[in-house]
Amino acid sequence: MIRKFTFGTPVTTDAVVLSLPAETEPVPFFSVSRSGEQVTLTRKMADEDCLFGLGESVRGINKRGNLYRSWNSDIFNHTESVDSLYASHNFLVFFGPDCLFGIYLDDPGRITWDLGFTRMDTAVITSENGQLDLYLLEESSLTELARAFRRLTGRSYLPPRWAFGYIQSRWGYAGEDEFRAVVEEHRKRGIPLDAVCLDIDYMEDYKNFTWRKDTFPPLDQFTGSMRQEHIRLIPIIDAGILCQEGYPPYDSGKAGNCFCKKEDGSDFTAAVWPGFCVFPDLLREEVRRWFGDLYRPLLEAGVEGFWNDMNEPALFYTPERLEEAFRRAEEIRGSGDYESLWFLKDAFNSLPNNPEDYRSFYQEADGRLMRHDKVHNLYGASMTRAAAEAFRRIVPEKRVLLFSRSSFVGAHRNGGIWTGDNFSWWSHLKLVLQMLPNLNLCGFLFSGCDLGGFGCNTTEDLLARFLQIGVFTPLMRNHSALHTRDQEIFRFSAWEQMKETLRVRYALLPFLYSEFMKAALSDGMYFRPLAFDYPEDRRAVHTEDQLMLGEGCMIAPVLEQNASGRFVYLPEDMLLIRFRSPEDYDLVPLEKGDHYIDLSLREFPLFVKRNHPVLLCPGGEYTEALDDHTFTALYWADRTFSFDLYRDDGQDPDPGLDSHLTRLSLSPDASAGPGSGVAISPLVL
Ligand code: GLC
Repeated sequence: MIRKFTFGTPVTTDAVVLSLPAETEPVPFFSVSRSGEQVTLTRKMADEDCLFGLGESVRGINKRGNLYRSWNSDIFNHTESVDSLYASHNFLVFFGPDCLFGIYLDDPGRITWDLGFTRMDTAVITSENGQLDLYLLEESSLTELARAFRRLTGRSYLPPRWAFGYIQSRWGYAGEDEFRAVVEEHRKRGIPLDAVCLDIDYMEDYKNFTWRKDTFPPLDQFTGSMRQEHIRLIPIIDAGILCQEGYPPYDSGKAGNCFCKKEDGSDFTAAVWPGFCVFPDLLREEVRRWFGDLYRPLLEAGVEGFWNDMNEPALFYTPERLEEAFRRAEEIRGSGDYESLWFLKDAFNSLPNNPEDYRSFYQEADGRLMRHDKVHNLYGASMTRAAAEAFRRIVPEKRVLLFSRSSFVGAHRNGGIWTGDNFSWWSHLKLVLQMLPNLNLCGFLFSGCDLGGFGCNTTEDLLARFLQIGVFTPLMRNHSALHTRDQEIFRFSAWEQMKETLRVRYALLPFLYSEFMKAALSDGMYFRPLAFDYPEDRRAVHTEDQLMLGEGCMIAPVLEQNASGRFVYLPEDMLLIRFRSPEDYDLVPLEKGDHYIDLSLREFPLFVKRNHPVLLCPGGEYTEALDDHTFTALYWADRTFSFDLYRDDGQDPDPGLDSHLTRLSLSPDASAGPGSGVAISPLVL
């Protein structure tokens, strides 16, 4: 059951696809209070209550005990104490002995989620706008709640199948030669690879929709020659458009009156990579059409995937605030007062993404001019929407890869996301593991982090462990920042071990793709907290470092430096597959309970429920080379069971579920000895 309550006159966000009549208060489960424009929802929580949701946010799978803010932020240095990341996903589930419901705030402004921060026993949710649609979802299980939320907000984005391949990326590849060398090195050593990302260095002076000619051949030639190597190119597109007359996107946008305006009617400008930029008012349909059409030449030149960036939107500084900082600096120079150094530092440190700047320009929503901060969290989602709408117009026959940094619920129908600028820190391994199930709950199934870590220098062991999580994340991209240590696998002495990890990904790829597609097409979750499968099991409900994957698997990666294994809690009997390579693995049937699993740096585990298979294909160095007719099925069975494998052409934008399922019937393997039931079964479909 889904119920809707409306406060004030909310803007249309495009998050919700189900049209429901608004009910009149009282709102169940919460007490509601108003103060000025704000609306606050308060609820007392029992000790055992857990909170799941909020998609991209810091800290645990269970969000209880901390304060979070929905306020999309370009937040490079994100530690545990940061309260906002790049996205706002305002769906939260309350789960406890006496409660099971979800709440969605369809509100693109700033929201504070005090989830037991001020008082451990109280949740206080405050919408600053106070103009919102509030949805309350009630179902009989956590899984059904997730499904109901997707019914409310629409089906998750489907990427092309090749996008499940390994992607190599780096900020700083500045020309064709470097790309070729990276690709060649992978191919020469047999390291699987499907795509490389083009970061801002491919552009002329970092200008969107330009193509650098001094170090690159024409784009269509480049895509063409890379396709012969079975490699796709994935260019970055940023949100800001450089203010420069004679630069076509600026001229056409200016002529079409497409940019966000300040109060005096002039274009709002702020510095980003290319210099002072204007920002398309992407809430307007005609602006989305204009912006989306800018992708056309790239699509026509053979590009099949994009990443949208800097779309919170990130503002390095506005001209006004920079002037003010210089004025402050001059004043301090004159004063000779050392205390003022702190003010000096603050004047410059507060330049980027300054809240006042977000209050100084306007966007048009539902025909009304709105101050940007009231609709701030929609900016990234509307950029994703502009691109996705263009892809549907320009290449309706196929799926285009798209992942964005900033997002809002609704964007999950149009693209995937990556989790922004993480660091090469062990704590960020855990962070992504804890984010993934909550992202799935909010509809973002196609996601992943910068493997190896984006900021600072990675280490060989950290990269190895990142890749072992990456084996299971739908988006599997190694990305790193300019001036950091080279992070391609082949740079490291243990490259052969990491190559084997990637080979396992490719051997599992048809199976993982099948699990992903079944989840996406049935409004399910690819990654889930253990609580979703074992709601009665207290240990499972509170497990923070293991995830359910697909119908019958569980992952429990190593998250600590120098660890040679880890404890794993099994909520039921499971088969451990300890992978070293697609050909070299141990199969260990384990009983429900606690186990210490030895995992040297080259080993990583996958756990599988009884009477459920994991399928390995013979592998290949790129997705098109994978044979999805011949498999080895690994399982632990005590009866004959069936399993549905999803296979399609990997391209069809609306493929449907049932027509692409093949039902496999599998039985305990007698040859493995009486009572064992552990099988390694060849399958030819
Ligand atoms: C931003 C992105 C990062 C990219 C960089 C340069 O920091 O998050 O992925 O490499 O900009 O474009």
